[in-house]
Amino acid sequence: MSVTNTTRKRVTTRRLIEMKAKGTPIACLTAYDAITAGILDSAGVDVLLVGDSVGNVVQGHDTTIPVTLEHMIYHTQTVVGAVNHALIVTDMPFMSYQVSPQEAFRNAGRLMKEAGCGAVKLEGGQRVLEAVRLMTESGIPVMAHLGLTPQSIHQFGSYKERGATDEEAAQIKRDAIALEQAGAFAVVLEKVPSHLAKEVTASISIPTIGIGAGPDCDGQILVWTDMMGMSTEFRPRFVRRYAELHDVMTSAVQRYVADVRKHEFPGPEESY
Ligand code: KIV
Repeated sequence: MSVTNTTRKRVTTRRLIEMKAKGTPIACLTAYDAITAGILDSAGVDVLLVGDSVGNVVQGHDTTIPVTLEHMIYHTQTVVGAVNHALIVTDMPFMSYQVSPQEAFRNAGRLMKEAGCGAVKLEGGQRVLEAVRLMTESGIPVMAHLGLTPQSIHQFGSYKERGATDEEAAQIKRDAIALEQAGAFAVVLEKVPSHLAKEVTASISIPTIGIGAGPDCDGQILVWTDMMGMSTEFRPRFVRRYAELHDVMTSAVQRYVADVRKHEFPGPEESY
């Protein structure tokens, strides 16, 4: 299904909150470049996250830790130029918001001013509240991120589910409420039990966006390369593969190589 430019208005943070209130599920994906962002936007996605997962997907690192503010500015600029409708949210990378609320505020401002995103996302609960307050009071919309927060991977020690103990679950619930009070417009819940995501969703009036958090969140997000089946190794349970692009691309490239070897490409119709 293609969604035409005339039928869709630009998605705003206010619109996402209205979607929650009306019970309309919010569809989000990551994007890191212009051509992909244009496709995802015209296919109807509500939110495009320029995620720091760019560190894994594009840069080939094991973690998101090496991603810099300059990388996020660059990738956001490429996405912004290709998108007409989706809200563009940019991840604040590791160490761009942890040092002090003032530094977080300055860096979020750079992402909006220099890169052109409509909102920023940062990971964590209590420890980022002051930064969230400072940003939202000054007109920078903030999406929060709780549960498995990949920038803390070295502290967690693994990518396993979070919020499975009573203590952790209670902390996630408290954090979600505090983040809403601090002004966040949405909360990503990553890899938490479905029942916990359902409780958090019911306890706040801003949308929850789930990834590995079950069906009761107000919206869902996936890394676009995961849902398109680009990887043969990374197959977590929470990813539904809507295509098998790894196989499609491999077969296309094999045919191209064979055609070049046989002098069958280019043909007369492809030559001047
Ligand atoms: O960086 C990212 O892609 C994310 C999503 C997984 C939510 O934070």
